[in-house]
Amino acid sequence: MSLLFLAPELDPQSWIKHLHRQDPHLDVRIWPDAGSPEDVLFALSWKHPLGVMKQFPRLKCIASLGFGVDHVLRDPDLPAGVPVTRIVDGGMVAAMSAYVLTAVLNYTRQFDRYRRDQARKAWTPRIPKHPRDVPVGIMGLGHLGSDAARKLHAMGFPVSGWSRTPKSIDGVASFAGDDALDEFLAGTAILICLLPLTPETQGVLNRRTLSRLPAGAYLINVARGEHLVEADLLAALESGHLSGACLDVFRQEPLSESHPFWSHPQITVTPHVASLTYPRDVAPQIIANYHRVRAGQPPWNVVDLKRGY
Ligand code: NAP
Ligand code: GLV
Repeated sequence: MSLLFLAPELDPQSWIKHLHRQDPHLDVRIWPDAGSPEDVLFALSWKHPLGVMKQFPRLKCIASLGFGVDHVLRDPDLPAGVPVTRIVDGGMVAAMSAYVLTAVLNYTRQFDRYRRDQARKAWTPRIPKHPRDVPVGIMGLGHLGSDAARKLHAMGFPVSGWSRTPKSIDGVASFAGDDALDEFLAGTAILICLLPLTPETQGVLNRRTLSRLPAGAYLINVARGEHLVEADLLAALESGHLSGACLDVFRQEPLSESHPFWSHPQITVTPHVASLTYPRDVAPQIIANYHRVRAGQPPWNVVDLKRGY
């Protein structure tokens, strides 16, 4: 029984090397060279071509190569009854929190402005924003959001989080459900999006929600580009209601050369690097799931297909 690598944007060689370190006998195939369709037991996906999964009659698991599964679930032709799993990895959680803290501190300590001052050789001391005066609101308190919340709280920021169900995290105010969204936004000076992309969260960063933030608020989107209505962000910056944004994810990736975000003075762009999947770190959990599925056991880290995450 084989494991099929279906990730056209990724280099398969490093994946195969680390998968084979875990199991030297593993039969790995690389799409489109899948061999006999009956052989494929387990599929690894990162943005797989739509419709291909249903070709494999004995497929028992589709494993996302990232935390998010939206790129798998967008396929309208997934075979029924096949579980979809995702990566859960402590190193990726830590990397995401490091990115979020960097973005928050870059903003509160005004590094962008000092870079511009330096280019002009201008000595212009400014009083930094004190963490206690900058309430941070995190949309999504899952694996990633809850870790970032704890670390921001430890640095002295007032932190609140918005999730579907209430959470109990020391020092973090919990807001749950659609009815609590406006109150959560009204108390948020830095808004961080760490939601999964689902039909409910698509476009959640829009004119209405951004307008509920206090004047001068800052946005950090590290979840998915489709959470943000891009024109609404540009309008909120243009009007002065928002003071800036740091964006790691975009509706179209790579961001097209003509996209206005590239040259916007109040927007920081990074190329979807907030938290990367390292084959060396996650190969053990993939191989463990492969062997579980071979043995007829349910895999770990299965997503709820109804909820979409
Ligand atoms: P997770 O553990 O599944 O947690 C998701 C959180 O979002 C939960 O707290 C959930 O609430 C909340 N949520 C979901 N739908 C909601 C809704 N309709 N209203 C309010 N809250 C809602 O997710 P995760 O592992 O932290 O990952 C989050 C996302 O980060 C991923 O899906 C992926 O898109 C993105 N990501 C980006 C990068 C990058 O490099 N930029 C890297 C990794 C991941 P409940 O707990 O109440 O269900
Ligand atoms: C990256 O975006 C991931 O979902 O892991």
